[in-house]
Amino acid sequence: MTLPTRIILDCDPGHDDAMTILLAAANPAVELLGITTVSGNGSLEKVTYNALRMCAVANILVPVAKGANDPIAGKASAAPSIHGATALDGAELPEPTFELSPLTAVELIAKLVSESDRKVTLIPTGPLTNIAMFLQAHPELHSKIEHISFMGGSTERGNWTPYAEFNIWADPEAADIVLRSGLPLIMSGLNITHQALATPEVLDRISALNTDLAHTVVDLMKFFATTYQDVFNMPDPPVHDPVALAIIIDMSVAKLISAPVSVELTGELTRGATVVDLYGTTGQVANVDVAMELDVDKFWNLLIEAIDTLGKRQ
Ligand code: RIB
Ligand code: CA
Repeated sequence: MTLPTRIILDCDPGHDDAMTILLAAANPAVELLGITTVSGNGSLEKVTYNALRMCAVANILVPVAKGANDPIAGKASAAPSIHGATALDGAELPEPTFELSPLTAVELIAKLVSESDRKVTLIPTGPLTNIAMFLQAHPELHSKIEHISFMGGSTERGNWTPYAEFNIWADPEAADIVLRSGLPLIMSGLNITHQALATPEVLDRISALNTDLAHTVVDLMKFFATTYQDVFNMPDPPVHDPVALAIIIDMSVAKLISAPVSVELTGELTRGATVVDLYGTTGQVANVDVAMELDVDKFWNLLIEAIDTLGKRQ
């Protein structure tokens, strides 16, 4: 019997992070050990409150620990233009049902990994600050990390600057530490997450589940759609973050290409850009499995099944 993959989510909820929490809570292929938060889509306070509220929405009780407020270099960022003033606008969400862990994000990740009798997979869907700080503080635990499957970067252009994707742009030094770690990395960049569009057809499928949770998700996605239309002129919002988890649940969800990936730290116009050597022109060693093609039907079936499962539990 295959045991579920033990995972820790590190996130900045954020609408797409919120969907990842639902998928992690419902899918039997993974065992969610805990959630850590990092400032990104909103302040650390806001994204942490949102993580706790999503645990209440999903009716799950796992340790949630607050992480880094500021990147390793520079100052904290936010994306109210995309996720709203609360960083999770668009729906009425319940208040948290349990207290925050007294541990820091790095302390909680270290505790969960060291206590696990099996390897653990980290799923970062925000800036990589907490992950980088954990890797630097606990080299003795690197061998217990099965994968780091992160949403970030792009094999093409960026979304926060012309060539930098938001999560990597927000803390390029942290991304550099993760990319140089030598651990098994899976990158879900914009090139694949822009295939995970919450189209009207997808929202109709979610609505048809006809549970309170389904209606909450549709409300959140409809808000997300308005900001993506306003900011990027994209009629359907890409639900980025769950792609990083869906790949761990079912590797056939995406086509992966092993390639050298590095991050630009000093470029005046390109700081935070992920430089993905898809054709081996640099002679560098491949350090990342880069997700390239999404099986869109499989992806949305996983998410809709998760929403249905959780909605029926309520
Ligand atoms: O660029 C998309 C990423 O930035 C997603 O993780 C989204 O939640 C934001 O954090
Ligand atoms: Ca995110």
